[in-house]
Amino acid sequence: MAKSAISNSVIRRLPRYYRFLGDLEANGYVRISSRELAEKMGLTASQIRQDFNCFGEFGQQGYGYNVTGLKAEIGKILGLDKQTPMILLGAGNLGRALASHIDFRNRGFDLIGIFDANPQLVGKRIGELTVMSVADIEGFCREHKPEAAILCIPREAAEKEVERLISYGIRAFWNFTHYDLRVTHKDVAVENVHLGDSLTTLSYCINTSDE
Ligand code: NAI
Repeated sequence: MAKSAISNSVIRRLPRYYRFLGDLEANGYVRISSRELAEKMGLTASQIRQDFNCFGEFGQQGYGYNVTGLKAEIGKILGLDKQTPMILLGAGNLGRALASHIDFRNRGFDLIGIFDANPQLVGKRIGELTVMSVADIEGFCREHKPEAAILCIPREAAEKEVERLISYGIRAFWNFTHYDLRVTHKDVAVENVHLGDSLTTLSYCINTSDE
């Protein structure tokens, strides 16, 4: 099935399935029924069957799902069998935290360059990488051909940087700036992250009671 035919809500659930299946695999599970998986994930068995049917026949009647096989299939759908080269703009508080703590390689990406506009940060080490100057992005992109970028820069800088990054071949953004990326370029993917929205949702949850 073409990716475009899969609903966004199913795609949003796939990383969670992948994570749960990884935990099951680590705990020695070889197979699991949709009912048992549903119980563990707080979903319904029919929801799980419906989701997996979007991609083909993964389960077998009376057997359930092979945990390792299903995880590998979902990983393939998510593109985790490849590693897209990625760069990070902004080696400040957030950029450093992400570069140090996100397991890029297990999530389909390879972080290959970190850039900052502050000369005092240039040359500093973050994990295996050394922060480079933003002035060097163009040359770096021409040589190493990154396809994705993380934006951890001030909102005001984002618009200009996005335009030039696209012109250097970047086609996907993991965007933490609060700049709403209304990129008109058709092939560019954007995943906006607003941690504050998640906290606001928690506020809603504790302030809404079933009276
Ligand atoms: P920070 O001030 O610690 O780091 C920003 C870094 O960007 C600085 O090192 C600065 O020199 C660098 N920079 C500025 N212009 C640049 C450019 N054109 N190219 C490359 N580097 C450039 O700020 P912090 O706390 O790390 O936040 C970064 C961004 O992320 C801000 O826009 C902030 O509002 C946003 N943020 C978003 C969150 C979210 O959930 N979406 C959570 C926290 C921060």
